[in-house]
This record gives sequence, C-alpha cells and structure tokens, in this order.
Amino acid sequence: MRMQLETCLAQAGGRSDPRTGSLSTPIHQTATFSHPRLGESTGYDYSRTTNPTRSALEKALAEIDGGARACAFASGMAALDAVVRLVIESKRRRVVCTEDPYGGTIRLLEQFFRPVGVVPVYVDTSDTRAVLRELDAGDVAALVAEIPTNPLMRVADVATLADAAHAAGATMVLDNTFLTPYLFKPLQHGVDIAVYSATKYLSGHNDVVAGAAVCRSEEMGTRLAAIQNAGGGIPGPMDSWLLLRGLKTLAIRMDRQQENAQAIAAFLAGHPRVARVYYPGLAGDPGHERLRRQARGFGGMLSIEVDDPDLVPRALAAVKVFAFAESLGGVESLITFPTVQTHAAMDAAIKDRLGINNRLLRLSIGIENVADLIADLDDALR
Ligand SMILES: Cc1ncc(COP(=O)(O)O)c(C=O)c1O
Repeated sequence: MRMQLETCLAQAGGRSDPRTGSLSTPIHQTATFSHPRLGESTGYDYSRTTNPTRSALEKALAEIDGGARACAFASGMAALDAVVRLVIESKRRRVVCTEDPYGGTIRLLEQFFRPVGVVPVYVDTSDTRAVLRELDAGDVAALVAEIPTNPLMRVADVATLADAAHAAGATMVLDNTFLTPYLFKPLQHGVDIAVYSATKYLSGHNDVVAGAAVCRSEEMGTRLAAIQNAGGGIPGPMDSWLLLRGLKTLAIRMDRQQENAQAIAAFLAGHPRVARVYYPGLAGDPGHERLRRQARGFGGMLSIEVDDPDLVPRALAAVKVFAFAESLGGVESLITFPTVQTHAAMDAAIKDRLGINNRLLRLSIGIENVADLIADLDDALR
C-alpha cells in the first residue's frame, strides 16, 4: 500500500527494530560496532559512516521527499557545505545562487568556496529571465535557490529553473527549509538535491541543530554519502532521534503554523505601524499566484517592514509571547532582526538594495493561540 505523506510522517522511523518491536526507534548511542569475525560485519562498522538511528532517519527523509537517498548532517550549513563540494566535482566554477538567501549561505560561498576557485554569482531567482542569462553564460556547477527566500519571501518558478539548469548541464539545488516536503516536494519539480536546515520545521521544537540533503538519484546520493563520511559532519544518535520524533508531528504543526501566519499577516497588513508585509499567502503578494500553483501552502514565515527604525528596538524589547531570537520553524513564535542577525554576513550595499534594512523584522509563527500572538505584536508595535 502506498501511504500518504501524513502517514509516512507520523510513522517516521517506525519498525526499525524488528528484534524487539520497539515502536520508537532505539537510540544507538555507540561510536563503534563489534564484528562477528574477520571479514564479517553486521552492516554497521563505525558511527561516522552509518549508525542505525541515523539510518532510520535518513530512510524516513528520503521517503518523505520521494528521493533515492538522504544524508543527515550536523546542521543545515554542514548539509549545504557537503552539497557544494559535490556539485563542484564537475570542475565547473560558477555557482549561481539566489541573491537573498540565508546569510550563512553567502558566508559559506564567499569565505570558504571563493578562495578555492569557486565563483559565486547572485541573482534574483524569482526573475526567471535573469537566471537564464546567468545559466547561458556557462561554466555553471549548480543553481542554488530557496523557496520562499529568507527573509524577503520571493518565490521562484522551480520547475522552469530546474529545466534550465539541466539544459545548462548544472545541478539544481533547492533549500526547502521554509516549506518542508509537507508543503512542497522539490524533487517532483525537477530539483536534484533538496537541502534543509532540519533545525527548523523538520525537528520543530527549537531543541536540536541538524541538517539534511535529499538526492533524486542514487548516484548523487552515493557521492554525497561519501562526502558525509569523509567530512564527518553528521548528527549524533540522540539528535537523529530528536529529529525523527519531530518529523512525526510536522503535518499538524505546519497546518497550525500557516493558519496562524495567514491570520497574523492579514492583521499586520492593516496595522498603522507596518509599511509592508512580505507573505506569499496574501493575495496581493508578488509571489502569491506562483506559490499557489506550485505548493500545498504558504508556510509559517513572514517579514514586515515597520514605518520607523526606532520602533525596532522598542518592539524587540516589548514582545512577551514572541521571543526575540535567531532561528525559525519551531512551535514557539520567534521574532528576528535580519540585518544584524541572520544576514550580518551579507554586504551592506546589497542589503540596502534588497530592502533587508533597519526596519525589517522576520517572524516565525508558532502554534500558540493566534489571538495571543496578535495581541503581543499589536502591543509591541504600538
Ligand atoms: C533557509 C535556511 N537555510 C539554511 C540555514 C542554516 O541552517 P543551520 O542553522 O541548521 O545550519 C538556515 C538557518 O537559519 C536557514 O534559515
């Protein structure tokens, strides 16, 4: 029987221990495994290479995204680092990246890959023609996009970009952290590798740092697993288990988070101190139609521009239900000031041009009572 996504999620990691029938995946807190005799192995040798708890997680991640193979990592950045290493095996030099990604993505490309010969190129991935121009210029190892982008919530036409990337001989990589496979299945739209900060919605409780990359082809998955083993940026058994447990409730968390986000976006759109709301769930948002056509929902992230920069420190100090903290996707609502937190690594002139300014706040909406969240924001903004 082919199970629906909600069922796969709820049963993630289930029945991975036929010996005992343990419903919850056992936490194999071990570095190594004893061998029966020379030349024989239980299938597990050393936990950097494989560990049964991590294997259960990776199997679930591949299944949920419909990929051939998934690799779990110690963080979202460790996952992206391994993926960039994989795509540059092609010896092509240019990595075309969305111009407003998570700030750490720029830091990784600029500070660690540019010095070894990689040429990062930034483009507005919601502007398909601009992306095509960069792909036409040739020598592209990969196109790296986010959907929606962080924090400006721009929406790319993923299938068109994936086709164009393939025509240019490049690998299509999508950071799907914001939507998760529950709302958007990148591999069904031609993406080769879906990347996640699993710290966010996949684990969902602001209690673990982890990452994941899911490959459409077995061949890429095998190469990525080799990089994962060589570099060793893996999650430990306990973090793998926490992530598996988080996956079980992804569907209901995400439903509630986006329901709350939709109501909060509508409220903020009419707020006297809010100059602009960035949320593709709003009918007037530039990405609304495009995301509606591609995805099952709009997610639980939104950004706002307030009318006065002096309001920002006051609002951040005044919130009581929202926590002023970096990160997103957990059950607790968070408010972030991107220009000094998540996007500190981005060039100031680029931030200015894009609108990642001293009036922009990013909200990660949790599962709390929506009336409490709205009242908290209203109090803080007034
Ligand atoms: C969209 C996105 N991708 C990647 C990352 C990096 O993930 P991690 O913090 O788990 O390394 C983040 C972190 O905020 C993010 O928001």
